[in-house]
Amino acid sequence: MARTRRPLIAGNWKMNGLKADAFALAKDLAAGVKQAGWSDRELLVCPPATLVAAIAEAAGGSGLLVGGQNCHAKASGAHTGDVSAEMLKDAGATHVIVGHSERRADCGETDSIVRAKAEAAWRAGLVPIVCIGETLSEREAGDTLSVLETQLKGSVPPGATAANLVVAYEPVWAIGTGKTPTVDEVSAAHAHIRKVLGGLTGDAAGVRLLYGGSVKGSNAAELLAAGDVDGALVGGASLHAAEFLAIAKAA
Ligand code: PGA
Repeated sequence: MARTRRPLIAGNWKMNGLKADAFALAKDLAAGVKQAGWSDRELLVCPPATLVAAIAEAAGGSGLLVGGQNCHAKASGAHTGDVSAEMLKDAGATHVIVGHSERRADCGETDSIVRAKAEAAWRAGLVPIVCIGETLSEREAGDTLSVLETQLKGSVPPGATAANLVVAYEPVWAIGTGKTPTVDEVSAAHAHIRKVLGGLTGDAAGVRLLYGGSVKGSNAAELLAAGDVDGALVGGASLHAAEFLAIAKAA
């Protein structure tokens, strides 16, 4: 099959970033993206909600995209402390991460909650990046592929297309640990994800599948070359402009 999926390199800043440092990082990234003039790949940063609007403004015109890290399923209302997909869109976001394993663990987000958030993203005109991934004990028990299948079927709403969905495979044990699966393990997971997506959308061949978990400049080329990998979701290394741009370059 011809490879028509444009790589997406997404940075998840998590709960990091005060104005001064965040602006400096966004400015360096925007300059790097502009200078590289990439039309064959996309770069996205997902700052904390407090900074989405300002970073979107700072990135304006450079080609650097901005997204949220989470959204509520509802558009508005009595949900103290939450942010809706519509608010992220209004702030300049194009994407939103949903179902990150830290939110599944910290906030008890289930597959059906994640699915409602993905639908909220669509309602607002955002592309959800739906995260799935196995824990270490699930991998050791040999359950990785079935766990991914269950999460995918539960988290991806009907109506997914190549244009409105990105899936990120992030083994929980690889996040922030410096450990990564082998290239073969990544390929096997991604091949299975694409196969399961085939039952959920007629467009499975075009949906971008990102790998996430301890991606850095030095391992990006290898991980991004794994079968069915169309980009990366990057945590720690996305907080350093040179490192994040090196990952983008490797795509
Ligand atoms: P990491 O995080 O790159 O720091 O491992 C990835 C993620 O949680 O998205």
